[in-house]
Amino acid sequence: MTRFTVNGQPVHYKMDPETPLLWALRDASNLTGTKYGCGAGLCGACTVHIDGKAVRSCQITIQTIEGSFVTTIEGLARDRSHPVQQAWVAENLPQCGYCQSGMIMAAAALLAVNKNPSDADIDEAMTNICRCGTYPRLRGAIHRAARVQSGSERLAAAPPGGIAPEDAAGMVPALTPLVRGKLSDR
Ligand code: FES
Ligand code: FES
Repeated sequence: MTRFTVNGQPVHYKMDPETPLLWALRDASNLTGTKYGCGAGLCGACTVHIDGKAVRSCQITIQTIEGSFVTTIEGLARDRSHPVQQAWVAENLPQCGYCQSGMIMAAAALLAVNKNPSDADIDEAMTNICRCGTYPRLRGAIHRAARVQSGSERLAAAPPGGIAPEDAAGMVPALTPLVRGKLSDR
């Protein structure tokens, strides 16, 4: 049994310990905001935070993160108030959106350790692939998120409508009994 914390909720996965974290999140916890792109650690669509660091979840098996704290896009800010999310909306950055969960998680991890990243810092940290080519707006969005984070800029942009983040994030505790049910069936 593998135990760790996802978006503040304890989870017990009775899955093959070699299961990549990406599939535990998507298939057992229904946290489908984390995307599958390449499965080879190249594209960054599957980026989540493990103990605050950006990690490509397709490359991490669940047995290696016992006791860790995982944050997915659903748990980054349940009211979409994270500076990166606000800047992404204000800069109208996404196109199809498929890569954007990973982009946002990578950007948030960067800003957590580097409050005012240079263009070079951004280029080094943001190795995510976007097939829509949103790269020209990426640097500007991260600089803007840094200003929002520091308080030098306030954004009036409201979060977009859609599925309430708490609904998605709430799937973890909702599914935990199912995971336990599988355990008790054994
Ligand atoms: S799906 Fe993990 S890096 Fe592409
Ligand atoms: S916005 Fe479409 S892949 Fe990046």
